[in-house]
Amino acid sequence: MLRFHGDAEIAPGLVDLAVNVRQETPPSWLTGPIAASLAHLARYPDPAEATAAIAARHGRPPSEVLLTAGAAQAFTLLGPALRPRRPVVVHPQFTEPEAALRTAGHDVTRAVLSEAHGFVLKNLEISPEADLLVIGNPTNPTSVLHPAEDLAALTRDGRVTVVDEAFADTVPGEPESLAGRRDLPGLLVIRSLTKTWGLAGLRIGYVLGPAELIERLREHAPLWSVSTPALAAAIACASPRAVDMEREIATRLAADRAHLVAALERAGVAVAGRPASSFVLIKVPGGESVRAALRERGFAVRRGETFPGLGPDWLRIAVRDTATSDAFVAVLSDVLGGSTC
Ligand SMILES: Cc1ncc(COP(=O)(O)O)c(C=O)c1O
Repeated sequence: MLRFHGDAEIAPGLVDLAVNVRQETPPSWLTGPIAASLAHLARYPDPAEATAAIAARHGRPPSEVLLTAGAAQAFTLLGPALRPRRPVVVHPQFTEPEAALRTAGHDVTRAVLSEAHGFVLKNLEISPEADLLVIGNPTNPTSVLHPAEDLAALTRDGRVTVVDEAFADTVPGEPESLAGRRDLPGLLVIRSLTKTWGLAGLRIGYVLGPAELIERLREHAPLWSVSTPALAAAIACASPRAVDMEREIATRLAADRAHLVAALERAGVAVAGRPASSFVLIKVPGGESVRAALRERGFAVRRGETFPGLGPDWLRIAVRDTATSDAFVAVLSDVLGGSTC
């Protein structure tokens, strides 16, 4: 079940609370360059300009950036390029990194964060022999934001530490991001332009890290894997204007999330940890039948049991506008009231 994702939950007519991609149409300063790039499709894509733009956005040289066809493609490069002997994945988290490592023939050890501690890094034991460590921040599906210093403490010589920051731009100002950190040994940061900018169908993400590691990943990346329209999007999203707008979107999102969490808590629903991203994780008794009842009533939510460390009583809910959240919590309360009678 590692290859199950939220898009499998959605169906025509259902309100999509299962996929954590912002649903608003991207702004015209973004769709314009994407559309204009279609005039140049006869040429093979040249990533130089977009690589330089992303590098400047994070204060790094271009040699420390590899553009990929979404963050998902970056995960597939880790095994072949790094050939780890002891890869460890911190769960619960997005399952593709582990799936990709297994596909590449690696045995993966899981380090599972505990519900009792709110899925934070407290008491996390990582074997000193782990030569590849993968962790998400903020983490899908728990929405937990780990402190940058706790993540920095996991890095060491002889280990590649991969921080999946696909959702980093959902946190205003990105205080815990390691994207600009060049002092930590073996640190790779993976980013995505999918979530905030509503570009899941375009496939654009990138990896940041020491030039030597980036070069190893590049050697294993498929030729021309990032298309010309995706490169145009990367350039547009790296501009100071885009970064400002990202912050505004994240700030509005935080208010919408607070509204959702308050409504869930008023309804007596347990919310995991201190959510910091564009989704929240809840625990409800009889999760499987609750999810089915929600579907009957028009809402698709993401099941929890395909995430190592979670079970069927966990459901992940995307943060949407307050009216959608209110409508959802009203239906959920009804369903839970009905299921306990
Ligand atoms: C935590 C996390 N990382 C990475 C991805 C993949 O992102 P992309 O669309 O850039 O491949 C996802 C997609 O759901 C995700 O949840």
